[in-house]
Amino acid sequence: MAKKFIAALTNSTLFLQEWLANPQRTGSVAPSSPKLAAAMARWLPANPDSFVLELGPGTGAVTRALIQHGLREDRLVAIERNPKMARLLREKYPKAQIVSGDAWNLDDLLRGRREPIETVGAVISSLPLLNFPPEEAEVLTGKIRAVLEPAGHWVQYSYHLGKNQIRGASSFQLRASSIVWLNFPPARVSVFQK
Ligand SMILES: C[S@@+](CC[C@H](N)C(=O)[O-])C[C@H]1O[C@@H](n2cnc3c(N)ncnc32)[C@H](O)[C@@H]1O
Repeated sequence: MAKKFIAALTNSTLFLQEWLANPQRTGSVAPSSPKLAAAMARWLPANPDSFVLELGPGTGAVTRALIQHGLREDRLVAIERNPKMARLLREKYPKAQIVSGDAWNLDDLLRGRREPIETVGAVISSLPLLNFPPEEAEVLTGKIRAVLEPAGHWVQYSYHLGKNQIRGASSFQLRASSIVWLNFPPARVSVFQK
C-alpha cells in the first residue's frame, strides 16, 4: 500500500515538474486516472502476437492498464519524448521497447529497431494533438495509418469533449467514442479504424 502511494506521488510530482517546464509538450498537469487508462486499454488487438504502439506514455498510467488488460510486455513499443519519463518507464517495464524520441518519427523509429517493426495491431496515443497545428497532426496520423494492421485501432484521448474533434482523423472511421468524467480534466476517448 505504502509502496503504491509513493509510486503515485513520484509519478504526479514528475508530471507536475515537467508540465511547469514545458506545458505545451507535456499536455497535462497530472497522469491519467485509472478509469481513463482502462477506457484506452479496452482496445488491445485480438492477436496476442501483434505489437502495440503507445505514443506519449508519460509516467505509464495507460501503460500499466495495457499490461493489466493482458498486453504482453514484450509486445509493447512506446515512444516518449521526455527522457526522464522514458527512463522511469524503462525501469518499470524492462521487457518492453521504450524508445526516447519524437512520435512524429515513428516510422523511422520502428524500422530502426534491432528487429524492425513493420506493423502494429493498435496505436494507443495520449499525445496532446490539440497543441499541434492541424497540418502537423495530419502528418502524424498519416504515419499511424501506414503502420496500423488493417483491423487495427488508433485510440486517442482528448480534453476537448466535443465529438469529431480529433486533429488528423479525417481519413479514419470513428468506431467508438465516450467521455470519461472521472479524470482531471474529463476526457473523450475516440477509437478509429482505417
Ligand atoms: C498528456 S501526457 C499523457 C501521459 C500518459 N500517457 C498519461 O495518460 O498519463 C502526454 C505525453 O506525451 C508526451 N509527448 C508530447 N509530445 C511528444 C512527441 N512529439 N513524441 C513523443 N511523446 C510526446 C509528453 O512528454 C507526455 O508524456
